[in-house]
Amino acid sequence: MTAVATQAPLLVYFSSISGNTARFIEKLGLRAARIPLHATDAALTVDEPFVLVTPTYGGGQGRGEEKGAVPKQVIRFLNEERNRALIRGVISAGNTNFGEHFCIAGEIISRKCNVPHLYRLEVFGTPEDVDRVSDGLERWWKLQ
Ligand SMILES: Cc1cc2nc3c(=O)[nH]c(=O)nc-3n(C[C@H](O)[C@H](O)[C@H](O)COP(=O)(O)O)c2cc1C
Repeated sequence: MTAVATQAPLLVYFSSISGNTARFIEKLGLRAARIPLHATDAALTVDEPFVLVTPTYGGGQGRGEEKGAVPKQVIRFLNEERNRALIRGVISAGNTNFGEHFCIAGEIISRKCNVPHLYRLEVFGTPEDVDRVSDGLERWWKLQ
C-alpha cells in the first residue's frame, strides 16, 4: 500500500466552555482532537505529530507574568511525555484587551517545548485568520 502524505498536521486543541477556539477549529475544517475539559474525562494521548492550538487564560492577574496563562488541561496533556515528543508547533488564541499578555500561552509553550509559535489570533478568529492558518499550515507542513 502506498503511503499518502497528509496535507496538514493533526491539530490538538483546547477550548473552555466559551468555545471560541472550538469555533475556530470548526471553521478550519482540518483533522482535530480536543483536549478534554474535565480532569475526570479520559486523558487524550496522541500518536502522530501535531500542532497545538490553545487559548490564553489568567494573564495580568498579578500572580506573576505567566502564571496560569496556559490552561491546566493543556499542561496536563503536555506533561505526558508521549504527547510532548510529538508537538511541532503552537497556535495561540487570546484577546488584545489583555495587552502585553495577549496570547502569551503560545510564547510559553513555544519556549518550553522548543517549537515555533506559528500564529496568534483573537477570540474565534476572522475569515482572514482562517485562510492564513489553513494556507500557512499546509505550506509549512510540507517543509517538515
Ligand atoms: C478569565 C479570562 C482570562 C483571560 N486571559 C487572557 C490573557 O491573559 N491573554 C489573552 O490573550 N487572552 C486572555 N483571555 C481571552 C481568551 O483567551 C479568549 O477569550 C479565548 O478565545 C478563549 O478561548 P475558549 O473560548 O476556546 O476557551 C482571557 C479570558 C478570560 C475569560
